[in-house]
Amino acid sequence: MEVVHTIRELQRLADAERSAGQRLALVPTMGALHDGHLSLVREGRKRADRVWLTIFVNPTQFNDPKDLAVYPRTLEEDLAKCEAAGVDVVFAPNAKEMVPEGSQTRVEVGELGLPLCGGTRPGHFSGVTTIVSKLFLAAKPHVAVFGEKDYQQLAILRRMARDLNFDVEVVGGKTVREADGVALSSRNVNLHPEARRQAPVLVRALEAAQRAVASGERDSRAIVQLVRREIDKAPLARIDYAELRDPDSLGLAPAELAGPALLALAVHFHPPQDGDGASVRLIDNRVLYP
Ligand code: PAJ
Repeated sequence: MEVVHTIRELQRLADAERSAGQRLALVPTMGALHDGHLSLVREGRKRADRVWLTIFVNPTQFNDPKDLAVYPRTLEEDLAKCEAAGVDVVFAPNAKEMVPEGSQTRVEVGELGLPLCGGTRPGHFSGVTTIVSKLFLAAKPHVAVFGEKDYQQLAILRRMARDLNFDVEVVGGKTVREADGVALSSRNVNLHPEARRQAPVLVRALEAAQRAVASGERDSRAIVQLVRREIDKAPLARIDYAELRDPDSLGLAPAELAGPALLALAVHFHPPQDGDGASVRLIDNRVLYP
């Protein structure tokens, strides 16, 4: 496994692999790797000869400086996990390399970036699209794999690749979960133990909504209310958003569901009053099929 720190070197490697006829898959990450990330490596492996993984905690996508400050950084362990997972190249640039002083150009997706996380995390998605564009231009992959856990991010990056004619196939990977249903996330380690015990309310809320739809419920408001009631059962949970949206356009779902609808959740988990630690925001989603 090769570890590369500069864009120039990565581009040279990409050119060499491409002229040798190798198909490249890219898995962009912010590190603190877990089995969700590694499942994307396996997905990439199915679709390409080489799998490259990038590790960069992108400061431009953090709208909350506290969140950036406590974001876990575990490069040594990450490299060991990549090696064991059969990653061919890890690209781990520093901030100056990825965002040189005086950078002025941003990539921004329109309507898809406005609701949900776009509404409560201003600037977040343009930070993501700008950095992922740069990663695409540095690694020149044929395929790039992103998790469905970040549903809106995946939708935005698909759209970006299409709109800007990136010659990159953007593919989604299934959400990997802990035994209690909590989606793996690098931020889970920052949850207070009591908040971690309450975190399964997200998946319980998704399942409750799915059961309601399966037994005939079509009223969007009733479904969202049921979801909110479920989440409110966790005393440390504060809902950021809980919404039903069109799975493609991310526009609001109709009052009466007729087709598939995306149920998207973002919930802050606070530490208990006498506990220390920061609040951690978790997201999860499921497409409901009436
Ligand atoms: P990060 O949060 O590190 O996630 C990297 C990739 O792993 C994303 O595509 C994300 O959707 C996927 N992922 C996270 N948790 C997952 C899980 N439980 N199961 C399956 N896949 C999961 O998302 C980012 O980084 C950044 O925004 C990035 C795209 C790297 C741009 O900076």
